[in-house]
Amino acid sequence: MTGLLDGKRLLITGVITDASIAFHAARVAQEQGAQVVLTGYGRLSLVERIAKRLPSPAPVIELDVTNQEHLDGLAARVREHLDGLDGVLHSIAYGPPSTLGAPFLDAPAEDVATAVNVSAFSFKSLAVACLPLMGRGGSIVGMDFDARVAWPAYNWMGVAKAALESTTRYLARDLGPQGIRVNLVAAGPVRTMAAKSIPGFDELQDAWPERAPLGWDGSDATPVAKSVCALLSDWLPATTGSMVWVDGGVHAVGM
Ligand SMILES: NC(=O)c1ccc[n+]([C@@H]2O[C@H](COP(=O)([O-])OP(=O)(O)OC[C@H]3O[C@@H](n4cnc5c(N)ncnc54)[C@H](O)[C@@H]3O)[C@@H](O)[C@H]2O)c1
Repeated sequence: MTGLLDGKRLLITGVITDASIAFHAARVAQEQGAQVVLTGYGRLSLVERIAKRLPSPAPVIELDVTNQEHLDGLAARVREHLDGLDGVLHSIAYGPPSTLGAPFLDAPAEDVATAVNVSAFSFKSLAVACLPLMGRGGSIVGMDFDARVAWPAYNWMGVAKAALESTTRYLARDLGPQGIRVNLVAAGPVRTMAAKSIPGFDELQDAWPERAPLGWDGSDATPVAKSVCALLSDWLPATTGSMVWVDGGVHAVGM
């Protein structure tokens, strides 16, 4: 049987638990024939343990996406496992507590800068770090939460996601001539560690299934993972600078 990602060499960031969107993207990618290398941040032994739960245990490289030494060494570390990269998933976000759930008007500039740096600027940093390994037909995918509107609780992470959406368009402009696509998956709420750390996000999550024309199961990351894999495949060859909504259709309806 042939898989959607047969022969593809992928770097997947953002696994911290087996609920992580990145974990499910790695799982589906392997099921579809891809070779996967993971990066982990901070608790490496935990990420290594989670990596063993994939269909094929995947190697883990340490990457703090704000650490220039890690970024500079990334291509060489990936080369220890793969001779190049066809795809990269950026599945990373962080905001200090003042930026999420707390009063929007109170967050200090340094905290907002951290949220934007880790969650948006890092998309550029990761792309640049992986570029020496990538060629024509390559695909870079990031994870978004629709930033066109103001949500309850999401606050400065929404601002960081707006920056991520814009970063995607500029990366698409600059990497297009090298044949590399850059896109986002705008997911509906999925129960992960990052989601749980946002006070008030539960209410958003609870309202989603009723609002979604297709319905929505926030405990199942598979639809999001499959869509990431579609963007990493050869089957959206003329799509770049785009955001693909994987939210049960909530973005398309009013009340
Ligand atoms: N869960 C949702 O409802 C949802 C919805 C839309 C978009 N997203 C996005 O999906 C992505 C993945 O989040 P998730 O929900 O799977 O949660 P998660 O907690 O499983 O993953 C977040 C990841 O970010 C990593 N990270 C944080 N700071 C880092 C740094 N400095 N360097 C490298 N990695 C760092 C963490 O280690 C973790 O693996 C995020 O961009 C998030 O905003 C999530």
